[in-house]
Amino acid sequence: MKTKTNYAGHDTAYKRRRAEGKVGWDETPQAYAEREAGLIKLLGQGYAPCSGMFLELGCGAGNISIWFAQHGFEVTGVDISETAILWARERAQSAGVKAQFMLGNVLELNGVLSDASIDFVLDGHCLHCIIGEDRKTFLQTAWRFAKSGGFFLVDTMCGPVESGSVDGYDPASCCTMIQGLPTRYFGSPDQIQKEICDAGFDVLDVSIERNKSHGNMMIQARMRPT
Ligand SMILES: C[S@@+](CC[C@H](N)C(=O)[O-])C[C@H]1O[C@@H](n2cnc3c(N)ncnc32)[C@H](O)[C@@H]1O
Repeated sequence: MKTKTNYAGHDTAYKRRRAEGKVGWDETPQAYAEREAGLIKLLGQGYAPCSGMFLELGCGAGNISIWFAQHGFEVTGVDISETAILWARERAQSAGVKAQFMLGNVLELNGVLSDASIDFVLDGHCLHCIIGEDRKTFLQTAWRFAKSGGFFLVDTMCGPVESGSVDGYDPASCCTMIQGLPTRYFGSPDQIQKEICDAGFDVLDVSIERNKSHGNMMIQARMRPT
């Protein structure tokens, strides 16, 4: 499978969302309210820390990161889209929230944060944008920044994909293909869980919801101390 993809292309999508008056990648306040309600339920299960250093890989316009900052965490968000990072900074400022938003490729994050410094690492829908061997690099990044025993929450799309329901879906690679490039990965829940275990995390809990076309899974994991 051709694994090169255009991660930086997300910026065009953010420019369009801003121009159209949307609130972030998920476009509507209701969509984020639903995700926040899901987070409250999940955090209530008691696996995740309630405070500490928080890092969102692929933070977009900061919607979820800012929610964590409002709930007691010291927040850093990283994203490859300049438009998204400027938007996140503006949103934090108007909400009166202290949070750090940095422009960067999560596959090449060197020197921006101290290793082993984060209590809670979040993949808020970024991992399904990461294709092929880059997925190992993404998970190594999460592992590298997590404190020993630190918490990792993966919120990601997964298969199986209903035939004909997702534009450009290629069952051989489990990816959507747009203009010849893979753009989203829909591995099976078992495959995704195995990737996380292989990257040095112990899985604590998995929940999967399905819509008409595919699944979405929340994996709560803890960095396995070396
Ligand atoms: C589906 S959006 C989710 C954004 C945000 N977490 C949210 O929930 O609103 C995925 C995000 O991952 C970012 N992203 C994709 N590949 C990236 C990379 N290699 N490095 C940093 N960010 C990346 C995109 O720019 C986009 O903001």
